[in-house]
Amino acid sequence: MTTDDFPTDEPAVVTCGLPYANGDLHVGHLRGYTAADAFNRALNRIGQDSIYVCGSDMHGTPVAVNAWKEGVSPEEFALEWHEQYAETFPKFDVDFDNYGHTHDETNTELTRDIVRTLEDEGYVEERTIEVAWDPEEDQALPDRYVEGTCPYCGEHARGDECDEGCGRHLEPGEIVDPVSTITGNPAEYREREHKFFTVSKLADFLTEFLDGLEGTDNARNQPRQWIEEGLQDWCITRDLDWGIDYPAAEGSEAEGDGADADDLVLYVWVDAPIEYISSTKQYSERVGADEYDWEEAWKGSKLDGADGDGEAGEIVHFIGRDIIQHHTIFWPAMLHVAGYDTPRAVCATGFITINGKGLSTSRNRAIWAQEYLDEGFHPDLLRYYLTTNGGLQQDIDFAWEKFADRVNGELVGTLGNFCYRGTLFAHRNYDGTPDATVSEEVEAEIEDAIEAFRTAVNEYDVRGIGTAPVELARFGNEYIQRNEPWSLVDDEPEAAAQVIYDCVQLAKACAVLAEPVMPGKAEELWTQLGEKDSVHDVELEAALEAPSAEFDEPSELFEGVEDERVEELDAKLADRVAAADDAADAEDAAAVETDDADAATAADGEGAADADRTDEEAPDDLEPVLEDRISFEEFQGLDLRVGRIETAEGIEGADELVKLTVDIGVETRQIVAGLKQLHDVDELPGTKVIVMANLEAAELFGETSDGMVLAAGEQADLLTTYEDAVPGERVR
Ligand code: MF3
Ligand code: ZN
Repeated sequence: MTTDDFPTDEPAVVTCGLPYANGDLHVGHLRGYTAADAFNRALNRIGQDSIYVCGSDMHGTPVAVNAWKEGVSPEEFALEWHEQYAETFPKFDVDFDNYGHTHDETNTELTRDIVRTLEDEGYVEERTIEVAWDPEEDQALPDRYVEGTCPYCGEHARGDECDEGCGRHLEPGEIVDPVSTITGNPAEYREREHKFFTVSKLADFLTEFLDGLEGTDNARNQPRQWIEEGLQDWCITRDLDWGIDYPAAEGSEAEGDGADADDLVLYVWVDAPIEYISSTKQYSERVGADEYDWEEAWKGSKLDGADGDGEAGEIVHFIGRDIIQHHTIFWPAMLHVAGYDTPRAVCATGFITINGKGLSTSRNRAIWAQEYLDEGFHPDLLRYYLTTNGGLQQDIDFAWEKFADRVNGELVGTLGNFCYRGTLFAHRNYDGTPDATVSEEVEAEIEDAIEAFRTAVNEYDVRGIGTAPVELARFGNEYIQRNEPWSLVDDEPEAAAQVIYDCVQLAKACAVLAEPVMPGKAEELWTQLGEKDSVHDVELEAALEAPSAEFDEPSELFEGVEDERVEELDAKLADRVAAADDAADAEDAAAVETDDADAATAADGEGAADADRTDEEAPDDLEPVLEDRISFEEFQGLDLRVGRIETAEGIEGADELVKLTVDIGVETRQIVAGLKQLHDVDELPGTKVIVMANLEAAELFGETSDGMVLAAGEQADLLTTYEDAVPGERVR
């Protein structure tokens, strides 16, 4: 097992979950791709040979269903999105060394090859199972062609995944009360022959694998629990005509055309992760194996004559937390049996909310990648926000106001301000860097920053990587303030030169440290400092090398985001969401009237690295408790009362809101609350609630809300009383 710290002598490969080629990219996607990009750049900065590869996920029902809705072939549909992704990622400086797709030849061949090996090794069995079937259309309904009820938790679920409840991957035949997403027909179950990968035989291997796995805690803890509950074998084929054909046995009659006699395709989750290898292979073939050898990366432990102490390669996967099972159970099992190295680390990121609400592409509650760029913001601002707003595992919220706060505070106020002050002073007084050498204090400070950066890399702490330059600039500002070079220039020129030299050195170090998360801005600063080569090619030690003696007048690195701009952006977002809500409401209404289940069940076609999920929060993703304590007196200042809902009605144009009248003993209040996610309006009257009675009144959708009813979590689960407290009683 590799436990040596980075950098090691082996070539590393960093990946991020492949985006389904089925819709526009948004901040939910970008969180993962920028974090992995920053991590790969950080590995390079500390001297690790490492590449970053990815590709589009072309197959499966998430693509097929969406293509069907557009009335085009899945291939044409997926290729179009693939091309768009390939153009979009570079605009965010997401710098893949190779970006392929799962439908290309490299991946098709490698996938067949690996599946044949699974068969040869005795890990594939044929079984008769029941699959969902549309009796009217006489066609199979795999995965997202069907919806129904999760057999584990009872929530509404997709055929392949309990996306609104417990988050489990669902096997064919498991979903209860299946309904076709295409026709709305209730589905039947029919018997079909399918291939299974016997993962259950690999529990011991997987347990050991997880013990050595690095990355985020959630990527070890969840799969451990699944193993404890008992592993199920994994159905690796589908009745679908879009995907990689199941390979015929070598030498068989059907082998000629590459496909088995019956038209099973491989389940998308078989060929998708194999693209990680295929993409590495394509890179290797392009640059030559001397420069980067894909086999070293993916089979290194075997090539080196397997020293028997494990088989993890320097493989680091970044994924969304909804696909942990695929990456820590199925994928390592496949790699192991097929004779490849297993990942060293899996980093599973949390989701993104927008203004505190779940990101929803169908509701247009998202910040789209292209939209962000069209607003004219530099990509580095978003990269910084997304990678440093919380730890990888935490769910983070995007709000334009918070975005502006971080940009104005940390980037403009600290990093930009320090670098500009220091370098401008240097340019004006010395045309560049004064004649001196770095002071002990500053040298030590930079060394500490380098050390902290190295530690952050080894702990997969992308936030720590991103804040490193800001922390150093914070020190810089304090240093310049404390030493007041402006009052030294005339009387103590040497002392002044020393301070300014130190500042230029610190700015140079900031550029090196900022490269992973803010590659564009880091290069800009680097060029301002008169440095010749690119900051993308240097290692951390460059932070301590002497700065260039001459440089031109610098300019400010960052521009602030004004309050008016925030208001404007918020208003735009609110309008978009309201328009989408209206459209969805209209569709829902139509669906109810005409019993057209199609409209009501629009599959979102969402994927991995993105965040359109409303599942129950795993405990390790909860927000930390606020640091600021309030006094008992302050608590007493909250007038919380028991109330009873008297009437409840929906509000036009506001999807989740309900207008309530609530008896709080002393009076009756009108309160508007977002409760419709979980509660039926008709069932609310009579319910006892807890009311925050001395909250300022507010206006919502033209209705006054005089107080607030308390509810828990995204779903707004109402708080009530346990026994017979009466309306008006205070809550203490
Ligand atoms: N496309 C999948 C999703 O969005 C992720 C595939 S990741 C890989 O959920 F491992 F299969 F590559
Ligand atoms: Zn479930």
